[in-house]
This record gives sequence, structure tokens and C-alpha cells, in this order.
Amino acid sequence: MGKVFIETYGCQMNTLDSDLILSRLQAEGYSPTDVKEDADVILFNTCSVREHAEERALSNAGMVQKLKKNRPDLVVGLVGCMAQNRQDRLFKQLPHVQLIVGPRHMGAIPRLVQEIRSTGQRRIAVADFDDEFIDGADAVASRSSRAQAYIKAMEGCDLSCAFCIVPTTRGSETSRPPGRIVEEVRRLAAEGTVEITLLGQTVNSYGKGLKPYCDLGGLLRKVSDVEGIRRIRFITSHPSFVRPSLIEAMRDLPKVCKYLHFPAQSGSNPVLKAMRRGYTVERYLEIVDTLRAEVPGIELASDFIVGFPGETADDFDRTVALMERVRFQNSFVFKYSPRPGTDAAALPDDVPEEEKKRRNEALLDLQERQSLEHNRKLIGRTFEVLGEGPSKRVATRQTGRTDTNQIVNFDAGRDLTGQFVSVEITGASPTALAGAPR
Ligand code: SAH
Ligand code: F3S
Repeated sequence: MGKVFIETYGCQMNTLDSDLILSRLQAEGYSPTDVKEDADVILFNTCSVREHAEERALSNAGMVQKLKKNRPDLVVGLVGCMAQNRQDRLFKQLPHVQLIVGPRHMGAIPRLVQEIRSTGQRRIAVADFDDEFIDGADAVASRSSRAQAYIKAMEGCDLSCAFCIVPTTRGSETSRPPGRIVEEVRRLAAEGTVEITLLGQTVNSYGKGLKPYCDLGGLLRKVSDVEGIRRIRFITSHPSFVRPSLIEAMRDLPKVCKYLHFPAQSGSNPVLKAMRRGYTVERYLEIVDTLRAEVPGIELASDFIVGFPGETADDFDRTVALMERVRFQNSFVFKYSPRPGTDAAALPDDVPEEEKKRRNEALLDLQERQSLEHNRKLIGRTFEVLGEGPSKRVATRQTGRTDTNQIVNFDAGRDLTGQFVSVEITGASPTALAGAPR
């Protein structure tokens, strides 16, 4: 059938979607390639969350035009969030693109590629009805990573944060039935998977519309029962849905990792209100305190947006104060980027770029100092680390993660991918620990 090249932008959900697309295409007889020039089908699985992500994908998709010129049979497609966001306008912008598929129609890709190859006509699938998801349980055999696997718990988002384009691109919330998820986990475990990460835009609101109802706490319990699985993670959580059943699951189920990524976005109530986040700083801190009281050893992580419309210096100071108070293990900090069609896009983007940059750096600096201080305290302790393969910088070193999602680099002398290793921590940087196996 030929070779497929997929370039992936954005979040873990996109990484998983690319894997599922590839799996489906492999089932049709295609084989994957890492070399664009060798490919018969080139897909860009795109992200729309910030303008920059769209620009990168557009520019890279533009560059394959010359490949298409030399090889008219080559099929070039834009799939994922930007495909949904920009729809057929992309055909005008990039005349060599023949396929546009939104996140809820990934299952149609093999059929559409075939149609394009036989008719030479363009194809587009972006409507928000008639979902054509790829069910992960049917795509286990060719998953890219054995030891660790992403699993879709739900798709879409029913909230409407003023800055966010995701509800437009991924549509409304749809939870997969727990039975399908457990089946997928079982099949993965049979293939050697030991760690799974349940994915969702607001993964802790999982369960909406399911009959019988099952929330994330319930799902974690079911997945915990699968033999062979040793670690369970889940991302991303929304502060509004950190329910008692979830806290209990993190506290009581040894396989569930004690790590919660639940973005605060801002530490100022007027900004949180304008962002339509649905909680106050006080409420957020209350959740933090409950989590730390109920789940000893838990590590917390957050996202922040700086320079949201109307964010004053005082608002920003409050965000700094929140970060100082909570002491996150890690934080992702983004400069506000207006997205078309969102409520915030109607507000003046009034924080100057330089000021956004300054706030971004200030927050990252603070996080870095806190992380370093925190990581240094771990020197001398021993953690169970799941090996993830050779470290990027030094090939003789291995990299892995602790239960609480800390990166650990260690000398091993052999590949320990997918194996649990006891590692004594001997050094610390803001982003990683260094250690030696015991
Ligand atoms: N709940 C989703 C969030 C998707 S976007 C998930 O994690 O799956 C990820 C992060 O990008 C958000 O938490 C937010 O901090 C940031 N973000 C979203 N829209 C943005 C925008 N318009 N400008 C800057 N950052 C944004
Ligand atoms: Fe976006 Fe807010 Fe949903 S950040 S994905 S609208 S929870």
C-alpha cells in the first residue's frame, strides 16, 4: 500500500491519535516511515491551542509542496485540531493538501486516503456529528510503545474557558465506556504494558452520560484490577472535578500515581472569573490542602497563562503568590495567545508582548528555583523508577520516572526500558534527578 509519515504537534492526546491513525493504516497494509521523502502519505496531526503551534504546522506542511510536485501521487493531509479549526480554508492556503480531517473523524482516514489515491479528488471530514473515532482497544497490536501506553478515557470538553479553542476543535465531552477501556488495558497488559496514562481534556469529569454512571475514581478502580499493570496516570484534571472518589482512589489504590496535574491558570480572582474557570483562588487552595492532607506524598503540577486580557501587575503578583504558596513540582507557563472564535478573542489583547514575556520568564524562574530546592531535598533517598530508555543527552545513561512523575537519569550499563529499578538519588537539577541503581 505504501509508506506513511506522520508529524505530530501539541498534546499527549495528539500523540495517541497519531499512534491510532498509524495503527489503522498499518492494518490496511501501510508501513510507517521516519523519512518524509520516502512517504506515499504525509499527515500533519496539528494543534490549535496557541497561534504559534498552527504557524509551525502550516509552515512545515507548506514545505512538502516540492515533494508533491515531484511525486503527484503523494497524499498530503492536515488532520487534528487545526484541520477542524480552519476547515476548507486550508485547501486554499495550501493547494497541495488533499485531505483535511478533524479530531472526531480520525477513523475515516484510511478510507479517505484510499479515495484520494483512486480518484485524485480532495476529501474533507470535519462535521461535528457522526463521530468516527478510532477505538484504542482495536488498535493494540501496533502501538508504538510497549511498556507505557496512553489510553483515551474521554474526548472533547464541555467547559468554556474564555481563552480556549479546544471545545471548538474537539467538540463536546464523550466518555468511552469503562468496559472498552478495561478491555484495551487488558490487551495492552498482555503485550507487556506496565504503565498506562488515561487521557482526557478534563479527564476527571470522566463519566458524563455513561449508563451505568462511572466516574474517574470508579474507572481507576476497574483499571487497577488489571493484572500486569503497575502504574496508572491520568491527565489533565480540572480543579472543579477533584471529587472525593478521585482523592480516595489516589489515596487507596497503590497503582494510581500520586501526581495531579490540575491547571490553576491564574492566582487572581478577577482573572479567573474573566477566564470563566469556575473556581476562585481560595477554592483552589482548599483543594490543594485537602489533597496534601488525604494523599501523603502527592505532587502537584499546574499550567498558567500570563498576559490574559486585562491582567494587571497586581493580578500577576497574585499568580506569583499562588505559586509560592502551593510549591508545584512543575508548571507549564504560556503567554496568552488570542484564538479565533473564543470569548476572550473579543477582548482587547492589551498586555504588551514584552510584558507577557517578562511575566512568563518571572514565573518560570520562580518555578525553577522552587523545583531545584525541592529536588535537592530528595538527594539520598531511593525511588522506584520505571525505565524509559537511553537519556537524550548521554547515550550510556538511562532515563525514567518516579511514581510522582519526577524524571531520573541514571547509569545502568544496559537498556532498562520498561523495567522497574531502585535508584538512589545523588544529584538534582530543576528539571531532573540524577541517581545510581542500588
Ligand atoms: N484541559 C486541556 C487544556 C488544553 S490546553 C488539556 O490539558 O488537555 C493546555 C494548556 O494550554 C492550558 O491549560 C492553558 O494553560 C494553555 N492554553 C490554552 N489556551 C491558550 C491560549 N489561548 N493562550 C495561551 N495558552 C493557552
Ligand atoms: Fe480548554 Fe478549559 Fe476545556 S482549558 S480544554 S475549555 S477545561
